Amino acid sequence: MKLENFDLQDLKARIEQHFAAGADAIGNDDALGSFIELRSALESGLLRAAEPDSAAPTGWRVNAWVKRGILLGFRLGKLTDQSIRGVMPASLFGHHPHITFIDKDTYPARTFLPEEGVRIVPGGSSVRSGAFVARGVVIMPPAYINAGAYVDEGTMVDSHALVGSCAQIGKRVHLSAAAQIGGVLEPVNASPVIIEDDVLVGGNTGVYEGTVVRRGAVLAAGTILTRGTPVYDVVDSTILKATAETPLIIPERAVVVPGSRAVTAGYGKQMGLSVYTPVIVKYRDDKTDLSTTLEDLLR
Ligand SMILES: CC(C)(COP(=O)(O)OP(=O)(O)OC[C@H]1O[C@@H](n2cnc3c(N)ncnc32)[C@H](O)[C@@H]1OP(=O)(O)O)[C@@H](O)C(=O)NCCC(=O)NCCS
Repeated sequence: MKLENFDLQDLKARIEQHFAAGADAIGNDDALGSFIELRSALESGLLRAAEPDSAAPTGWRVNAWVKRGILLGFRLGKLTDQSIRGVMPASLFGHHPHITFIDKDTYPARTFLPEEGVRIVPGGSSVRSGAFVARGVVIMPPAYINAGAYVDEGTMVDSHALVGSCAQIGKRVHLSAAAQIGGVLEPVNASPVIIEDDVLVGGNTGVYEGTVVRRGAVLAAGTILTRGTPVYDVVDSTILKATAETPLIIPERAVVVPGSRAVTAGYGKQMGLSVYTPVIVKYRDDKTDLSTTLEDLLR
């Protein structure tokens, strides 16, 4: 695709038309061509599934038509053999040895060149086509970045981290080992998970269901955030929750740690149970900056 000829409104109209056609779009060359254009625009960072918008209540606007375009790609794709051949010794197998990959032909794994400035440390990571990965991103193996995701400059995607479909990750974010950033394609107007600039997402964390983590926040290891998770802010004496209209939003520079709270009614109380709850214990200070200065020397 020639990005200099990129006509956003024209592409949007074609994507909407082919998406609305349902199964009739399968086998239509213009539908496939439109999807491939969309996919290239996503990979170049020109188009995003969600983007900053100061007029929106969360500060982010979801581009539902882009998500429809991503879904169109799944509809149009055919399962193909994308196996890597010749990497295992024939003597072990007695047949054509290869590592098997079978997926839709519209979503092969992305390839990169050194000039793109993305470090993909050897050992089993995969970036699906339709994902944007900026210069200076480091991907430790194994990690997976799904279609429609956006990973901005200088971010670290550590081992066993997942960046789900359409998730938006800011600049200089640290996604620690085993951090799971959930994806969302449907419903198409649902906001994806958004991690703003300079956030530390600790090891073994999970951020799901459209949660927005504002810039500079810190999620301690083991924190899980969903639409249904109330977050107790013991600094400002408030409880943060998602509503029908807005997702859970973690404030700027909040330091969130995994905690628990007592069940206060019924059988749960009788049995002395408590439930998991994340707690904002403080807002980032010099000590947090020290604790979160991770392996810069390794970059
Ligand atoms: C959150 C974190 C950065 C610490 O930040 P900090 O600003 O230095 O926090 P402090 O040590 O001042 O702790 C503040 C309070 O939170 C509590 N706390 C800190 N980390 C906590 C954690 N992980 N779980 C539960 N409570 C925690 C402290 O006990 C303290 O409570 P207190 O005031 O009642 O004593 C650190 O705990 C953390 O989780 N780092 C990420 C580690 C990681 O995943 N690394 C990635 C490797 S790939």
